[in-house]
Amino acid sequence: MDSLLIRGGVPLYGDVQISGSKNSTLPIMAAALLTAEKCVIRRVPALSDVHFMASIIASLGAEVKVEPGCVTIQAAKIKPHGDYELIRKMRGSICILGPLLARLRRARVSLPGGCVIGTRPIDLHLKGMRELGAEIPIRNGYVCAVAKRLQGREIFMGGRSGPTVLGTDNVMMAATLAEGVTVIHSAACEPEVVDLANFLNAMGARITGAGSPTITIVGVKALHGVEWEVIPDRIEAATYAVAAAASGGEVNLLGARADHLSAVTDKLREAGVKVERNGAIINVKRGSRLKSVDVTTQPYAGFPTDVQAQMMALMCLVPGMSIITERIFESRFTHAAEMGRLGADISIEGPSAIIKGGKPLSGAPVMASDLRASAALVIAGLSARGETKVNRIYHLDRGYEDIDGKLRKLGARVERVPGE
Ligand code: UD1
Repeated sequence: MDSLLIRGGVPLYGDVQISGSKNSTLPIMAAALLTAEKCVIRRVPALSDVHFMASIIASLGAEVKVEPGCVTIQAAKIKPHGDYELIRKMRGSICILGPLLARLRRARVSLPGGCVIGTRPIDLHLKGMRELGAEIPIRNGYVCAVAKRLQGREIFMGGRSGPTVLGTDNVMMAATLAEGVTVIHSAACEPEVVDLANFLNAMGARITGAGSPTITIVGVKALHGVEWEVIPDRIEAATYAVAAAASGGEVNLLGARADHLSAVTDKLREAGVKVERNGAIINVKRGSRLKSVDVTTQPYAGFPTDVQAQMMALMCLVPGMSIITERIFESRFTHAAEMGRLGADISIEGPSAIIKGGKPLSGAPVMASDLRASAALVIAGLSARGETKVNRIYHLDRGYEDIDGKLRKLGARVERVPGE
């Protein structure tokens, strides 16, 4: 397996182009299953998760073409079940359930397993689709959904940890072709949900309220093909912003959406980082002295759980104590122990990590356990003295387009080492 060799201590300077959003692209690709016509999706990032989703959709019988920056899908004739192993491996693939149910009135997908950041249940997805009229027994590890008809309803989608992003997506997609009106209460408000709703509306759906906790979907008879450009990846942008602050340089984020990044930029400013918007460019520069801040992750528009690990890396470098509380996923602190190998002082107390920052970090071999944890280890490695080897970087390739190339362009000494 490839690893990333980082020789730290070099501030990042320059421009970085922000890619299309992974978390928008995956459900939008799934939504293309709702029509027999061709959908062309642009600004698609080159990521292994996108290739994975393309293979899953192809295994359902659709024609899928992946080109640089663009995916074309034509689901003229599809079947209700795809490759079990492929679907089981990628959690994001659960979002094919809603489109399959809407289009074919039946679907069979493997039950996604837990992952290192928590148990990741899908009870809310199933609850929403059952309320639309589907019967969904779980048999031998499969979610088997059947519906004679889908009937619009008022559905409450809030869970123990708040709304669900892919659950909202799934029910919204299923409801586009249901009879009557569906109202989703306690819907996720993430920009990726809005992007999906806009894509569906461009296909002929009638959705209002996306981006708010109440989404209304008036069912239509059929959807049609469309060309679409996904939104920029706010998590990738936030990762480079934090990396710029941590390394002590100055980076221009090109093509990022400042309005999607308010919680992150506000927290960075509180920590003393200079963040300025200049048209379509966000300039991020480390101030003369940074200070520690506390962070609590929340559903959008709160601080994203997907930037929690990166922020922890930054707080390790800042003198003082910082408390980072994770409210979305229960076990999302696996990076803390690995950062300890670099010399960070982090202790975990329930849902909170207590970081005593300002101790000098020095390079070490570390092992990434999930996507954002890997990004955090890269940020820590860029700021540490000496050499850090981040092993198992396939996680990074799932979610960061050309991360080593982009970092090198910013002046980082980063090298991809092919695995044995
Ligand atoms: C999406 C993102 C992921 C991000 C997460 C939270 C994609 C492909 N992934 O994941 O990067 O970290 O949103 O912003 O877009 N929950 C339930 N029951 C359910 C579903 C979820 O209890 O049926 C819980 C989860 O365990 C978690 C919380 O709800 O505690 C939020 O999870 P959810 O928003 O569903 O995450 P995903 O949509 O899977």
